[in-house]
Amino acid sequence: MNEDSSVKTSTEKTSSPVCVGTEDDLKKQRKTMVTVHGREVVIFCHAGMFYAMDCRCYHAGGPLHLGEIEDFNGQPCIVCPWHKYKITLATGEGLYQAVNPREPSSSPKWRSKGVKQRTHSVAVEGGNVYVTLSDLDCRKDSDYYADKFNKRINYPV
Ligand code: FES
Repeated sequence: MNEDSSVKTSTEKTSSPVCVGTEDDLKKQRKTMVTVHGREVVIFCHAGMFYAMDCRCYHAGGPLHLGEIEDFNGQPCIVCPWHKYKITLATGEGLYQAVNPREPSSSPKWRSKGVKQRTHSVAVEGGNVYVTLSDLDCRKDSDYYADKFNKRINYPV
């Protein structure tokens, strides 16, 4: 059997960390658009922590780098500028408020739709910030818009 060890899977090609800037610059900018292995990623710096996620909102492709960060239910979230969906920075969960219909007098409570937005790992080493893409074989709702916009970047018409 003739196996070519130089042939890499799509996951292997995109799993190496990429330096996206210095810690100082990214802290000053607070929201920074970068490209990691051809993918549009936004880096957020909030309360001294770095977060990374795909730039296009899972709902309809809104530009998350233009949203504002607010706390909901004790979790920092990006609020999409297009339709105000709330997405947790740490996990990419979509949050919404709902009232339990069995308790009509109760006040709305924050609930999770589950992980909708693809997030990525961020590490700081030697004053530089590195992003490692998450496993692209495990699909997230936001991948539809990431793929659509990445095609536009890579193959302009
Ligand atoms: Fe983000 Fe609709 S596109 S909330």
